[in-house]
Amino acid sequence: MEKMLIVGVNTRPLAHSAYQLGYEIYSTSYFCTMDFDRWHHKKCILKQKSYNSCGKFEESFDPSLLMKLSSSYIDEVDHIISYTGTVPEKFPPSKIIGNKKVENVENKYKLYHKLKNKFKFPDTYHLSEIAEAQEIAAQFPEKKFIKKPVQGSGGYGIEKFKNMNLESYPESEFILQEFVSGENVSTSVLSTGTQSQAILSSKQLYAEENPALPEFIYGGNITPYPGEDSVFKKVAQEVVDELKLTGSNGVDMVIANDDIYIIEVNPRLHGTFECAEAVLGINMMEAHIRACEGELLSVSSPEKYAIKKILFAKKRSLVGNLKYNGVFDLPLENTIIEPGQPLVTLICSSENLYNCLEKINRATSHVEGKLKEF
Ligand SMILES: Nc1ncnc2c1ncn2[C@@H]1O[C@H](COP(=O)(O)OP(=O)(O)O)[C@@H](O)[C@H]1O
Ligand SMILES: [Mg+2]
Repeated sequence: MEKMLIVGVNTRPLAHSAYQLGYEIYSTSYFCTMDFDRWHHKKCILKQKSYNSCGKFEESFDPSLLMKLSSSYIDEVDHIISYTGTVPEKFPPSKIIGNKKVENVENKYKLYHKLKNKFKFPDTYHLSEIAEAQEIAAQFPEKKFIKKPVQGSGGYGIEKFKNMNLESYPESEFILQEFVSGENVSTSVLSTGTQSQAILSSKQLYAEENPALPEFIYGGNITPYPGEDSVFKKVAQEVVDELKLTGSNGVDMVIANDDIYIIEVNPRLHGTFECAEAVLGINMMEAHIRACEGELLSVSSPEKYAIKKILFAKKRSLVGNLKYNGVFDLPLENTIIEPGQPLVTLICSSENLYNCLEKINRATSHVEGKLKEF
C-alpha cells in the first residue's frame, strides 16, 4: 500500500478521499476533528480536552509547528499533498503530488505583477507604510480600498482600508487593493501542465455575520455557480495555463458587471473540494493525482447542487454531541469553542437548490441547539 502524507490546517476531507483510493494515510493538521477516522496516522496541533477551551486559531496556528509534526513522517511516506497552511517548497519535491513551487502564485503581489498585462486585476500596491496607503487612497477618492496580507488564506487579515489614524496599523508589508464590488466566484481547473480543463465554478460565501469575526472570512460555497459561468471558466483556464500549473487549482475572481477581476489563485486542492465531489460524482483526489500524472479525468456537467457552510461560534460555547446528517469536522464533545472560531462544516447536496438550502438550515438549527453559552 502506498503511503500518502497530507499536511494542512484541516486535512479531513482530503484524507477521506485519498483513503478511498487505497492509500495508507498520514496526516498532520491544526484541527483534530472527531470524524477523522481511526485508521489514519495523524498528528494535530490542537489538543482538545473536555471543559477546556480550543483557543483561537489565528493566535495558535504556526506553520512551523506543522513542519515539526510532519518531520518524522516525511521519510516514511511515498507521496505528500501540501494543503492550505503549508507550502510544497518545504518538502522533498520528488514526493509532492501537485505544484512543487508556489511562491510566485501565493504571493499576491508577485501574482499581480506576473499576470497584470494579460488579465484584469483590481489596482494593487505592495506597501510597507500606512502613510503611503493613505496617500494613494487620497488620490482616488472615488475608489474604495482593502488592505490584505501579501500571502494569506481564508480571508484572515483582510479589512476595508479607512482613513484611520496611523498608530492603529502596525508597519509591515501589506497589499493595498482597490475594492471591486461584485459577485465572488471560484473556478476549479484541472491541468496536466500542457492541457487544462475548467471543471466547475462556485459562488463563494462569506461567514455569516458574527460580531466576533472580521468581514471577509471565508464561509463556504454554493456549487455549481447558479448562473452562466462559461466566460469566467475560460479566463480561469487561461490563468492556469499562463502560470503552467498542474493538478487541481482554484482561481478566485470577482465578477463586476461584465468585467472579470482576478483576485487570487490557489495552486492546490482548495475549498470547493467536497462540493465538487458531491456534484460531479468524482473523487477529486483522484482527479488531482491523474492530472499530475498527465491525464485529465473525464468530468461531466454537474447534475445537482451542493452547499458548504462553515459555522462559527457567535458566543463562547460548550458543544454537545453535534453528530448529524451533513455535519462534518466535529469538535470533541464538551469542549469550549471561543467566539468567532469554527464549530463545524455543513455539507449538503440536492438536485434542487432550494432543498439544499433547507437542509443546510436544518443542520444549522440542530448544531445551534447543541451549544450552551459558557
Ligand atoms: N480587491 C478586492 N475586491 C473585492 N473583494 C475582494 C478583493 N480582494 C479580496 N476580496 C474578497 O475577499 C476574499 C478573500 O480574498 P483573497 O485575496 O482571496 O484572500 P485569501 O487568500 O485570504 O482567500 C475574496 O474571495 C473576495 O471575496
Ligand atoms: Mg481566496
